[in-house]
Amino acid sequence: MQRNLAWNIIRVRETGSTNSDLVRLASEGKADEGTVIVAESQTAGRGRQGRVWVSRPGAGLYFSILLKPDAPPAQVATLPLAAGVAVAKALERLLPGRRFSIKWPNDIVADRKKLCGILCEAGEKEGGRYVVAGVGINVNIDVDALPPELTEIATSLKMLSGREFGTSSVLAAVLKSLEEVYRLWLIGGIPAIVSELESRDYLRGRRVEMRLLGTPVSGTACGIAETGALLLRRDDGAIEEIYSGEAHIGSAG
Ligand code: BTN
Repeated sequence: MQRNLAWNIIRVRETGSTNSDLVRLASEGKADEGTVIVAESQTAGRGRQGRVWVSRPGAGLYFSILLKPDAPPAQVATLPLAAGVAVAKALERLLPGRRFSIKWPNDIVADRKKLCGILCEAGEKEGGRYVVAGVGINVNIDVDALPPELTEIATSLKMLSGREFGTSSVLAAVLKSLEEVYRLWLIGGIPAIVSELESRDYLRGRRVEMRLLGTPVSGTACGIAETGALLLRRDDGAIEEIYSGEAHIGSAG
């Protein structure tokens, strides 16, 4: 029987990184599943692939959630995909009529621009796996307040809808959706939610370039496998199943 997650929300005005804070607590055995740290701003917000996540006060929602899935390691590796589905569904409820895309594995995209990024970090404490899922959503930032290098590639809920959102209501929507998607994923694994991922697949049909164990590969994204892997059709027709990495959209994509 699956129990409901008991959220324990810790709010801070400013921190370095909510992910770093929660990873530290989890690795010390000092936080339970359902612990959430939400910060008004981060001075050292971290993105995937070692990037910086700019986290100014009033611009976005920055939070991390601790999950302790009782699931085999191969399934735990797919939790970042489930997190992306949960956030996309929450944002769709907040902006009725809008459908968000997911750029594999879990960037949330609207109008070809990034709205939300998710950084999942896994660890082990006393034989139990934990995952810290860190979510950064651009909420009330306007285009002229974005750092110049982001104006062409980032968007916000306000830019998409013309209105402001309370960060607490955005957080509540994401937690509710995560609870639902997490339950499905615990019972059925990624096959239970893969259709939600496929129907929002941003990369499908686009030229994609990535590195596999340091080797550059390119091809056309052609869907998501039942396992959650990104399917890439190489130019020689071979289909590659990709389980991790960063997909860059090629010049013809
Ligand atoms: C990405 O797209 O590169 C992932 C960005 C993740 C940013 C969030 S903000 C809250 C949490 N704390 C961090 O330091 N990073 C994540």
